[in-house]
Amino acid sequence: MGYSKKVFRAAEAKLSERKQDAERAAEERRRKIYRLIPRTEELVKAIGSSGIRAARAVVRGGNATEELEKLRAENLRLQSELRTILRENGYKEDVFEPDYSCKRCNDTGYYEQDNVTLMCPCLRKALSECACEELNRYAPLYQSTFENFSLDYYPTEPNEHRIVPREHMDKVYRYCRDYAANFSLHSQNLLFFGATGLGKTHLSLAIANEVIQKGFSVIYVSAPSLIQQYEQRMRSGSYDEDLLDMVTDCDLLIIDDLGSEFTNQFTVPHIYNLINSRLLLGRPIIISTNLSMRELERQYTYRLVSRLSGEAEKLNFFGRDIRIEKKKLKKVEKTS
Ligand SMILES: Nc1ncnc2c1ncn2[C@@H]1O[C@H](COP(=O)(O)OP(=O)(O)O)[C@@H](O)[C@H]1O
Ligand SMILES: [Mg+2]
Ligand SMILES: [Zn+2]
Repeated sequence: MGYSKKVFRAAEAKLSERKQDAERAAEERRRKIYRLIPRTEELVKAIGSSGIRAARAVVRGGNATEELEKLRAENLRLQSELRTILRENGYKEDVFEPDYSCKRCNDTGYYEQDNVTLMCPCLRKALSECACEELNRYAPLYQSTFENFSLDYYPTEPNEHRIVPREHMDKVYRYCRDYAANFSLHSQNLLFFGATGLGKTHLSLAIANEVIQKGFSVIYVSAPSLIQQYEQRMRSGSYDEDLLDMVTDCDLLIIDDLGSEFTNQFTVPHIYNLINSRLLLGRPIIISTNLSMRELERQYTYRLVSRLSGEAEKLNFFGRDIRIEKKKLKKVEKTS
């Protein structure tokens, strides 16, 4: 899958920073140990120079074999002395080596196998992380968590469906928390239904946060912004693959406020194809909407909506608009 240059640069910078950190730390360890145990510095230098002497002996020719053997023996003795000193002082034998985050590529992003240079999985992961970061840049990701989700805002009186919102929302909350905690690439799709201000966005962001922390790539996008980005790209003719690829390829896609976007004959197929391709790939998707099932069908065809609802767990949100409830509470605090 293709990433833009910008994302590529960001990912390579991420790895390069890890590499430099590892090397800087190794250098600091080296300087500290040299200071504490000066003999180690002598040994490291002697080991280096015995290598150079061996190379010279080879170049000189003549009776190199005997000299090489001697140098090799000396080198082994020096190395063994160094190892012993380090061990006796409580250091690991490879304490002078940089401790790279990725042992396969030493944080370069590439490794050799059968004389072919391959992209390391750690660079792939960084690419997908950077693409997500770029796409989530404008999402209010970190304000909504499971911790600051409160059940206190939901009424304890039964509603017209004889459901007690607080009890019901307790179940919804637990369901979402478990969903995030056990998230995998085979997790179910979720459909959040309910009026404005009942916590649909809040819980989807809480899931996003936790799933990101588990190391999955997550894209949270509102349907209007998704459509806007599609249209911008169409208009400017610049085909930036990040968004289009990532929304299909990311581990979890969250589309907020489906149905509130301005739809027309061009935008509907985009959303349709997107949802459809995720369903086909079996990649989890969370969709929330203020619309009823019937209203959604009117916008997105019966075929898509019935398919979607057949392959998703439906969660209904009940209660009173929490934005208004919060304001009321603030007023009460002020007057009391
Ligand atoms: N249970 C809750 N506890 C605390 N804050 C909440 C809760 N539900 C919603 N909110 C807050 O109320 C506001 C509206 O909620 P939101 O999730 O945007 O509703 P929806 O997406 O259903 O329209 C947001 O600021 C959100 O953080
Ligand atoms: Mg919302
Ligand atoms: Zn690697």
